[in-house]
Amino acid sequence: MTAPRRRLNDSVTRFWSFAAPAYDQQCLQRLVYQPAQDEVISALRKHGSRRIADIACGTGILASRIARELRPDETYGVDMSDGMLAQARKRSSDVFWKKAPAEQLPFDDGFLDAVVTTSAFHFFDQPAALREFRRVLAPGGVVAVATISPRQLLPVQLFAAGAWAPAHNPSPAAVRALFTGAGLVVEDQHRVRRPWWTQAVSDLITIGVKR
Ligand SMILES: C[S@@+](CC[C@H](N)C(=O)[O-])C[C@H]1O[C@@H](n2cnc3c(N)ncnc32)[C@H](O)[C@@H]1O
Repeated sequence: MTAPRRRLNDSVTRFWSFAAPAYDQQCLQRLVYQPAQDEVISALRKHGSRRIADIACGTGILASRIARELRPDETYGVDMSDGMLAQARKRSSDVFWKKAPAEQLPFDDGFLDAVVTTSAFHFFDQPAALREFRRVLAPGGVVAVATISPRQLLPVQLFAAGAWAPAHNPSPAAVRALFTGAGLVVEDQHRVRRPWWTQAVSDLITIGVKR
């Protein structure tokens, strides 16, 4: 990992360790994060995945749901932030919690059959993370990425001179290109289904397979 990337990861980690106690508020969870997590659960159910990792798992809400609702053989929750992982460990003992960055996962080649991530892709070195997801998947394994993907470029992104913001909140076509570039075949992509009153959250789910 490059030095600038390590510095960025360190600041992100510090922020989320600080924010962890506020993160589990039910209203925030239900309105913002849960719809994407529901979609990931259905994709995993459809694929019958048995060894699953939730990357940038935060306080472990999705990973714990996966363990409880799908009962796979093994569920892993991976995050860089000690604060978030501390909350996650209190939530479930059915998940193996691990501290690692998305770009350097603590799994052998081909170890998993599903890698998922919600509401965190914008923090990643996206090409590196997707290559890493592919590396740790067995052939036929599935990747599900739910991420903010604005329907129109936000004023703040235009203001940010266009350099990093669109890349980190990529368009549907850009996410597809990232998947393909990492050697993943896109099998589905659609807007996250959510109640109309939360549609200001413009998120997208992309599902790919390692052939
Ligand atoms: C908004 S929270 C999302 C948590 C969870 N995925 C959810 O949907 O509720 C973002 C999380 O991403 C983690 N994160 C950010 N960049 C990361 C990276 N490069 N590798 C691993 N975790 C990362 C942060 O520590 C934080 O816990």
